[in-house]
Amino acid sequence: MNWIKVASARELKNDEAKTVNVAGHGVALFRIDDEFFATDSMCTHATALLSEGYVEDGCVECPLHQGRFDIRTGRAMCAPVTVDLRTHAVKQEGDDIYVMSSAAK
Ligand code: FES
Repeated sequence: MNWIKVASARELKNDEAKTVNVAGHGVALFRIDDEFFATDSMCTHATALLSEGYVEDGCVECPLHQGRFDIRTGRAMCAPVTVDLRTHAVKQEGDDIYVMSSAAK
């Protein structure tokens, strides 16, 4: 497994998200309290990109049916989502943000 550079820290403000490419696989990258976290990009309920959701208090609200996930743990917080999100290892070196390549599986 390798670390893959996916973004620069300055690309995201706190409580923002974007979809990044990890070896051809879309991953949602979030910035919370100046820390970075990564989850699968697709909601576990249906087809919606979580990077387009609303981020608040460490959670993301899905833009399609308003299910919520804890971004740090991936835990499904409220209906209609019942299946947790996969989370992925992230590290920061200077301005560079890396996600572990296992996120592409
Ligand atoms: Fe995310 Fe339905 S697609 S809550």
